Amino acid sequence: MTAAQPAHRGLFVAFEGGDGAGKSTQVAFLRDWLTDQGYAVLVTRQPGGTELGRQIRELVLHGDHVSPRAEALLFAADKAHHVDTLVRPALERGEVVVTDRYADSSIAYQGAGRDLGVAEITSLQHWAVGGLLPDLTVVLDVTPQLGRDRRGLVHDRLEREQDAFHARVRQHFLDIAAADPQRYLVLDAGERRTVLRAAVRERVAALLADRAPVQVLAPSRAPVQP
Ligand code: TYD
Repeated sequence: MTAAQPAHRGLFVAFEGGDGAGKSTQVAFLRDWLTDQGYAVLVTRQPGGTELGRQIRELVLHGDHVSPRAEALLFAADKAHHVDTLVRPALERGEVVVTDRYADSSIAYQGAGRDLGVAEITSLQHWAVGGLLPDLTVVLDVTPQLGRDRRGLVHDRLEREQDAFHARVRQHFLDIAAADPQRYLVLDAGERRTVLRAAVRERVAALLADRAPVQVLAPSRAPVQP
């Protein structure tokens, strides 16, 4: 998605990638690293970062059949509420927001995976989030096979889709990132976790050097070096 970026004082980082890419692990690494340096950090995920989002998550991932267009609208509703009530206020307070999935997930899963139309889902998502884009999106690139192996036995509605669906999703994440390399970091999810952690830190450290998100003085914690 490309759009004029609304001004805010914080830093907005999103993690994207196929199911089983290891996003939550990297989100937790980044949260701990930022917190140790004294930054005010909000970690959240989509769908599900708010109470309404948790209800939408149940309906769309663990409920009965949902028609593809209804699915796209439910994911968009989650984003709209999440951005209005949680993400934008935190950015306006100058915090670092780290989200596990954002608008690109819908463009890849509903637009490309469900074949609902990338252009339509892009504009739906853009409208839902009021044009708010991450400063950096980390794409953890995972093959459908590796993702399936890592997911194990528990499968939600989206995870149960065929490899061909996940291959379309994967390709679309790569296409989105290739169109705007300055705002994306693509990493091979098959790499060791510590290698990925270092690559994410390096890129985020460069962004932090350019701006001044809120640092909360926490005397009990010594700042750590990037
Ligand atoms: P995720 O929270 O990463 O799954 P889990 O916690 O089970 O590892 O994502 C939930 C699923 O929702 C995932 O398959 C991707 C899908 N999804 C969409 O299809 N569209 C969206 O807009 C979002 C945010 C997620």
